[in-house]
Amino acid sequence: MAFPQVRMRRLRQSEPLRALVRETALAPGDLIYPLFLCPGEGVRRPVSSMPGVFNLSVDEAVREAEEAAALGLGGLLLFGLPESKDVTGSGAWEENGIVQQGLRALKSSAAANKLVLIADVCLCEYTSHGHCGVVVRNGESFAVDNDPSVALLARTAVSLARAGADVVAPSDMMDGRVGAIRQALDEASCLNTPILSYASKFASAFYGPFREAADSAPQFGDRKTYQMDSANRREALREIELDIEEGADMILIKPAMPYLDVIHAARERFGLALGAYQVSGEYSMLHAAFEKGWLDGDRAMMESLVSIRRAGADFIVTYFAKDAARLLR
Ligand code: PBG
Repeated sequence: MAFPQVRMRRLRQSEPLRALVRETALAPGDLIYPLFLCPGEGVRRPVSSMPGVFNLSVDEAVREAEEAAALGLGGLLLFGLPESKDVTGSGAWEENGIVQQGLRALKSSAAANKLVLIADVCLCEYTSHGHCGVVVRNGESFAVDNDPSVALLARTAVSLARAGADVVAPSDMMDGRVGAIRQALDEASCLNTPILSYASKFASAFYGPFREAADSAPQFGDRKTYQMDSANRREALREIELDIEEGADMILIKPAMPYLDVIHAARERFGLALGAYQVSGEYSMLHAAFEKGWLDGDRAMMESLVSIRRAGADFIVTYFAKDAARLLR
């Protein structure tokens, strides 16, 4: 049957009809809100390239968490700006590191039992050179040394789990880190701490504003020897497969909008929970257009989030989480 018997517009004539046949739902609980913790008290320092995003001292972060819980968000993803940096990134696993302090404070707040507290596991915010692992320099050239980096990441994951992280999320893209983190967590009796692996993380220009927010720009070179080439979908699936074999409980794909095909392919192939990270550059470019009045902010934001869910993501890490949740209520 075809036109005129078939008229696709019949089911589009009213909002209740459209709602009835809507294929993809978005709820506040699908959204994870990133927070950037910094030392001090009462600090709320705006990130210039990300309107509405701040570096927050722990006390301010607790307030954010309470707001996030009241809005029904799924959880928080925590990043840290340490007091000082060094070549190995030791601030990442310090007993009293900035995220460890934040986790303890958040865990004892009322928001804690309503939110999943996810700790990003990486060294780039903590190393003086800004790379995600241990750097070996050789004259002009340098290399990020995989295996020693993995040992430090495993140590970091254990420290964060002990401080109260509900989930640890390695974002460094070293080989073998999921297996090493699982083993280290188990040896530390953190048997029930899940690993959300940033399994396919592309070397992307869209992380630019984050590197301001987290003060984590590499001081030399780039991340192309460890993060993935943006042209590769089959390789992304292989990365995911390996992380599942190593014990990942959930998978994150990042960035989101420029990689919807990867999200879709991963959804078709794998059964486990899958998230996508709508990264800083995606947020900033949309905001820039909102500020110019070139796009309708609410509609473009919601459309971007629904597209990521439609591609197959169960949950979305997004700087729009609070704004979207307000519209969804
Ligand atoms: C740390 C990390 C990055 C992001 C999340 N974890 C930056 C990077 O790889 O340079 C990017 C998030 C964003 O852009 O919003 N390795």
